[in-house]
Amino acid sequence: MTKILVATVKPFIPEAVEKIEKIASDAGYEFVLLEKYADQGEFIDAVADVDALIIRSDKATREVIEAAKNLKIIVRAGAGYDNIDLEAATEKGVVAMNTPGQNSNAVAELALGMMVYWVRNGFNGKAGTELKGKKLGLHAYGNVGKLIAGIAKGFGMEIFAFDPFIPKDVIEGDDVVCIESAEELYSTCNFVSLNIPATAETKASINYELLTKMPEPAVLVNTARKEVVHEDDLLRVFADREDFSYITDIAPDCKDEIAEKYPGRFFFTPKKMGAQTAEANINAGVAAMTQIIGFLENGDKTFQVNK
Ligand code: 3PG
Repeated sequence: MTKILVATVKPFIPEAVEKIEKIASDAGYEFVLLEKYADQGEFIDAVADVDALIIRSDKATREVIEAAKNLKIIVRAGAGYDNIDLEAATEKGVVAMNTPGQNSNAVAELALGMMVYWVRNGFNGKAGTELKGKKLGLHAYGNVGKLIAGIAKGFGMEIFAFDPFIPKDVIEGDDVVCIESAEELYSTCNFVSLNIPATAETKASINYELLTKMPEPAVLVNTARKEVVHEDDLLRVFADREDFSYITDIAPDCKDEIAEKYPGRFFFTPKKMGAQTAEANINAGVAAMTQIIGFLENGDKTFQVNK
């Protein structure tokens, strides 16, 4: 019997799990759930005889992939797949997929929510500022960037986007100003939202040169990945610019130093929660299971990321 494992250190809500399980059992598959596992060893043991795997930010390392002798497909229920060893997957003939767009609205709402929280001083009762009329730069205009633009427009923000992979007319079609370089985006906007994936090219790419270009007061908003920000440069910018603040859903490794030296200039969610909504869990989980069936039954490789 085809065996499906959902392995999530950070579990889906129960309703999402029930829906995934129902789709799996209707297809005649065995369904196994491993949640909140204590260590990577438990994950590795659980994959031994599975045919398909659904994960979130769980680390599908080479060790995991090699231990899963029957594995045919891994689906990352979410957008970023930097947690899958794609080389190992390809070598073992395992198809890796993500579920693009399924949790994007939750992430976009969090980005705007953090911005409102920030300009209103954490809702402490003191006079803050408004987002209306402020310039927001979207560093990448994929699913999340596009949704942030839509919401930010409701706030009356001026919106700019830089994304070399999205045609200019698509960006301009949304009434967003298309910017030709990252440098120009950072020089233009007081708020910059990072919506880029973590890849070999983007890791540590948000550096001193870019951040020091931002006009005062500068707010960097990160709902993407901590790895895209160059942390030594981030600390330099904190030291050089009193107007600079950093609000992020993924606390940097240097979070204790920032907390100690720059109180009142940062906000870090206690745990990555961009995709933590009922809707996002259900949409991404159901899409992942449906994609597995499409692949196992019909060879459908839409959304494969290790081509
Ligand atoms: C994603 O890449 O889809 C988001 O970062 C969400 O990750 P999560 O499923 O681990 O919350």
